Amino acid sequence: MARRWTNNLTLADATPQAAFWNRRRIMAGLAGSGLAAALGSQAQAELALAEQAGADQALEPNTWEEVTSYCNFYEFGTGKGDPSEYAGRMTTDPWSVAIDGMVDKPGEYSFEQILGEMTLEERIYRFRCVEAWSMVVPWQGFELADLLTLAGVQEGAKYVAFETLYRPSEMPGTAYKVLDWPYREGLRLDEAMHPLTIMATGVFGQPLPNQNGAPLRLVVPWKYGFKSIKSVVRITLTDQEPPTSWNMANPREYGFYSNVNPDVSHPRWSQASERRIGGGLFARRQPTLMFNGYEAEVAALYEGMDLSEYF
Ligand code: MTE
Repeated sequence: MARRWTNNLTLADATPQAAFWNRRRIMAGLAGSGLAAALGSQAQAELALAEQAGADQALEPNTWEEVTSYCNFYEFGTGKGDPSEYAGRMTTDPWSVAIDGMVDKPGEYSFEQILGEMTLEERIYRFRCVEAWSMVVPWQGFELADLLTLAGVQEGAKYVAFETLYRPSEMPGTAYKVLDWPYREGLRLDEAMHPLTIMATGVFGQPLPNQNGAPLRLVVPWKYGFKSIKSVVRITLTDQEPPTSWNMANPREYGFYSNVNPDVSHPRWSQASERRIGGGLFARRQPTLMFNGYEAEVAALYEGMDLSEYF
């Protein structure tokens, strides 16, 4: 398995909001003064990440309000406010995930069983939507690799396919054929096993709200947001590149890989810059970073590939 990623940020770094912001400013003042060495390791990790990302790209989390009310979850409607308004009616308990295909231990894994087996961590990730807005979200979750290892990936498996719950009685948006339901996504196996790839079960130290994909959803921080499929009920290991909802809907606009890439434009708009949600009227656009700022961690996965062909 790939090396585990060593982000040791915790929610103590993210909440409460005000304390976080204050400390960030203080630390910005300390940076380079030598005093940073006197700070705890947690704080140093945060500082290192912020420096690595550049001053304008600091990992300042968005607010609970922004993360939970400005959402995309088309099963509940195509408006950003629809998920927070309608997803409450989705039953998330009991919940199980079918893990099947090329695995040693296929079966229905209950959410409780999964939680019991996995090590939960807190991680703050940049999140970049194909519509050119972005957020920074403090997730809790576990590495997808750990779940796949639990199920036992068989020799020859090359891809992982994911499916969201499809329950029309609780999902008003599925009455419209904007997408071919259920919502489907996929990753190459090495992407799925990468330590940055997590299954999130919470935000801001709280269980995941329904609108954000309760009780568990994928988060792949170096890819456009639509890859991060919500409310997952099936994970299938396969040797074929799986069909994905957005690629099926519009293959010219949405490729299988969907890596954040400022150099490859969406056919109808540039992807070179983004607008951070929040910050009000004067929120500045900022340049989008290659692989959403995770280039050092993931570029090797795509060595030798023409990323304008495999977009
Ligand atoms: N998963 C499902 N099942 N249905 C969706 O419509 N939207 C995707 C992704 N996962 C979506 C989904 C898109 S376009 C984005 S940008 C993110 O979820 C949004 O995640 P958030 O609302 O938690 O920020």
